[in-house]
Amino acid sequence: MKIAIVGCGFVADYYMLTLANHPELELVGAYDRDPVAAARFGRHFGVAMADSLDALLALPGFELVLNLTNPGSHFAVSKAALDAGRHVYSEKPLAMSVEDAETLVRLAADKGLEIAAAPCSYLGEAAETVRGAIERSDVGAVKLVYAEMEDSMVFHENYRSWTSPSGAPWPAEDEFAVGATLEHAGYFLTWLCAFFGPVEEVTAFAARCFDDKGTKQPPQALANDFSVSCLRFRSGIVARLTCGLAAPRDRSLHVIGTDGVLSLTDGWDYQSPVYLREPDGAWGSSPAILGKVLRRLERGRPFRQWFGRRLPVKPSTAKVPGTSSRMDFARGPAALAASIKAKRAHDFGGDFALHITELALVAQHAERYPMPYRPRSTFAHDGKAPKAQAAV
Ligand SMILES: NC(=O)c1ccc[n+]([C@@H]2O[C@H](COP(=O)([O-])OP(=O)(O)OC[C@H]3O[C@@H](n4cnc5c(N)ncnc54)[C@H](O)[C@@H]3O)[C@@H](O)[C@H]2O)c1
Repeated sequence: MKIAIVGCGFVADYYMLTLANHPELELVGAYDRDPVAAARFGRHFGVAMADSLDALLALPGFELVLNLTNPGSHFAVSKAALDAGRHVYSEKPLAMSVEDAETLVRLAADKGLEIAAAPCSYLGEAAETVRGAIERSDVGAVKLVYAEMEDSMVFHENYRSWTSPSGAPWPAEDEFAVGATLEHAGYFLTWLCAFFGPVEEVTAFAARCFDDKGTKQPPQALANDFSVSCLRFRSGIVARLTCGLAAPRDRSLHVIGTDGVLSLTDGWDYQSPVYLREPDGAWGSSPAILGKVLRRLERGRPFRQWFGRRLPVKPSTAKVPGTSSRMDFARGPAALAASIKAKRAHDFGGDFALHITELALVAQHAERYPMPYRPRSTFAHDGKAPKAQAAV
């Protein structure tokens, strides 16, 4: 399928690097409103750059727009692409308000087009292992989930030195203004909603804990940098999701069932280890003495995401960025393109993306919503999680 990219900054490199994993996707052109970014991207990747969004959208024969702009531009760019008759794969969130996200999903439906959003983390081999274990009831009936999205002490680091391979700087000001939750909640929200269906009720708390992130932005220009969301799914399962950028890095997931505990070490790594432990969180290892030693060690330290019976994660030769985001970013649009080609509704299409966007917005701006909050969006879920690697 022929595709075009709008927004050629830091994350666009992740897509360019991983497009090689999906030869069925052919990039016909790109556009960035910043001439410096456009020139850098076009030069580095040898991509034909359009002079305007209209010029890009007028290119003949392509079907899908990858909207990789900053969140504040997602709505306008996706709307323009839909108006031009193109399917859309947007970086997260779909839009900066629930109303705008609803408008996009409605517009796509009216035009018979698909709109889907990142993240692609659910499409990885580690998520597939977790999905399979839940489907086989390895942990019995799932009751409770802890999901952590702590992206390390970002603003204490030398983030001004971070650049993508083509030289795009990490957009610190925008990241801090948009907020760690809106940037990251979608990663595990996607897994949880794919596994357990729509959320019926959420109680969220969010705060801005650090007023100075070294960018000279006034505090009021900075978004909340910490949030906790307690989610109750329609299926009755309960989950707690934490997002932040000041605590030590932790992107683990713990699925707690009646008969065991499933732990994933890193939700941003397609090859992350996945462990299975007994209902009390112990590891009945063989030889048993090893389990006993580890259990004693664990008493003093929170080793919870490292020990247990290791479940097989399908190996992959897919190219992934050599950063902390070890994911095949282009697998998201590839999965969408595969659905479009097969003329079947995409598992992570408009309704799903809207639900994830609404939950992320409520978590990011918890103080703006009455709690407990009942989401107005929902999506069809037959109690069975879609296979994580449908597109591969
Ligand atoms: N930075 C990361 O590590 C990272 C990782 C995963 C996902 N993301 C997501 O990717 C998206 C982009 O983030 P980024 O880090 O690449 O930001 P960035 O600022 O580096 O790049 C965004 C680019 O989009 C361009 N742009 C903005 N509005 C535009 C418009 N209306 N028309 C054309 N071009 C426009 C900007 O000029 C800029 O070059 C965000 O949604 C972010 O959440 C970022």
